[in-house]
Amino acid sequence: MELLSGRDIKVYFPIYKGLFRKVAGEVRAVDGVSFGLEKGEVLSIIGESGSGKTTLGNSVLGLYPPTSGTMTYMGEDVRKAWFTGKIQSVFQNPYSSLNPRMNVLNIVAEPIFRKEKHLNKEKLRIRVGEILETVGIEASAMFRYPHEFSGGQRQRISIARALITRPQLVILDEPVSSLDVSIRAQILNLLSSLKESFDLSYIFISHDLATVRFLSKSVLIIYRGKILESGDKKSIFENAANPYTRLLLQSARDIVITSEVPERAGESHGCPFYKRCPNGDEICTKVFPDVTVLEENHHVYCHHPFVH
Ligand SMILES: Nc1ncnc2c1ncn2[C@@H]1O[C@H](COP(=O)(O)OP(=O)(O)OP(=O)(O)O)[C@@H](O)[C@H]1O
Ligand code: SF4
Ligand SMILES: [Mg+2]
Repeated sequence: MELLSGRDIKVYFPIYKGLFRKVAGEVRAVDGVSFGLEKGEVLSIIGESGSGKTTLGNSVLGLYPPTSGTMTYMGEDVRKAWFTGKIQSVFQNPYSSLNPRMNVLNIVAEPIFRKEKHLNKEKLRIRVGEILETVGIEASAMFRYPHEFSGGQRQRISIARALITRPQLVILDEPVSSLDVSIRAQILNLLSSLKESFDLSYIFISHDLATVRFLSKSVLIIYRGKILESGDKKSIFENAANPYTRLLLQSARDIVITSEVPERAGESHGCPFYKRCPNGDEICTKVFPDVTVLEENHHVYCHHPFVH
């Protein structure tokens, strides 16, 4: 059974205009996305800035409940899992995601305060100390404050906070993008070993395909709220069929967003990538492509894919 499954997930945000905040349109941040995640798997969600990655991750977390679509966790409505701490997250920026007024003990313990109110202070300290040591921070550091730590150490503290409730699924939203290149490999290695020791599954969000190559099993390529290609790691890295995936693969460095990325409201019915696509033609402006199954674990949404 899949750990997590999403079918035709849509997350739309209203756009308000004028003094009376009349609804003037909607941002289709996630627009009909389907995915599945097996237990122990790493599913990467890749796309440029504004493509809807964080919104999709937040919909799994329950921060932005889907506007429509169905999401199940272990075969049951995902809403159950939102209240049990089984799904946790690590965000991109460890400078803004850790409350500067709280010490590490309170930051890491926060997710279990609500869940396990009976836990006494001594037991809580032991549990926080243990999880800190697991992520490579000395237990004695729990009385210090975030500003006393480096970026890499702060991200380790964020990871400790995510793991304290013993989750099964962790959403990693650009967990290394804001770190020095020299630290990134350390954190990726840590995430990889924690996955094994805690029997975790990950959703790994990134704008950079190279970062996820190490950890992922499968990859979703998303552009302006729509999946353009999905597949196992080998299909995406060795046989990419969608022109957008190829563009991402060719970008050795971070993608620079151009002004060509069109506005999101009032979308056309066609492929959202057509204004930038070298293969695009008239049909692409009018009709969003149906799925083409290239292999069992390789699906592309494109009128003119590269096929091998
Ligand atoms: N709370 C919100 N209200 C209105 N629009 C939103 C909200 N959150 C996100 N959006 C819009 O939804 C779209 C997708 O945003 P999202 O943050 O999910 O993208 P992203 O792929 O995570 O980008 P980045 O790589 O920059 O983090 C954007 O157009 C964004 O402006
Ligand atoms: S559907 Fe058309 S515009 Fe979209 S990626 Fe394929 S060829 Fe390009
Ligand atoms: Mg984001």
